Amino acid sequence: MELTKKYLKEAISGESSAVVKYTAFMETATQEGFTNIAYLFKALIAAEQIHIQNHRKALKDPDFQPKLENFQQKTTLLNIENAIEGELYEYKTMYPTFMKAIKKERKTMYGKVGYLSFEWARNVEITHANALKIALSALQSGKDLGPTEIWVCKVCGNLVLGDLPSEPCPICKHDPHFYKLIKNESIETGEK
Ligand SMILES: [Fe+2]
Ligand SMILES: [Fe+2]
Repeated sequence: MELTKKYLKEAISGESSAVVKYTAFMETATQEGFTNIAYLFKALIAAEQIHIQNHRKALKDPDFQPKLENFQQKTTLLNIENAIEGELYEYKTMYPTFMKAIKKERKTMYGKVGYLSFEWARNVEITHANALKIALSALQSGKDLGPTEIWVCKVCGNLVLGDLPSEPCPICKHDPHFYKLIKNESIETGEK
């Protein structure tokens, strides 16, 4: 239980830092005129908040205050590269390390819940990195991300570009009605 607790706190701090960073990156993308990339950051923020929510439910310590990491604010191109690096670090290193460390604690319900929260978050981060890579290749040819709807699974934070999926979420296996459409402020007309 002790290790699960320790790593849940680290994960909450990491995800909370990502939310702060992506909020700044979203503002920069808007200022640079990349409104669809700003929209992608908005969806990523919603997804990271789901990770925080799941980790917090597992931690059961409402008083815990996350420790925020510093980041550098650059141009959108460099911000996206930085974001991809962060997502891949969580996917390849951070969450696998946590999962390995708490393997034995999975015998308890507390450890089991923590492990599942890590496992979902880990598998989701690759969907975040992939969406960011699409934005990066558009930007490398000087363009914004193409117009798209973005859906986020309310259970695990899985992020999908395009139409509402008809299949259950591949990560948490919940029904497609758990996908939430993230509103694109820049094309909102007020009638929705
Ligand atoms: Fe992510
Ligand atoms: Fe999901």
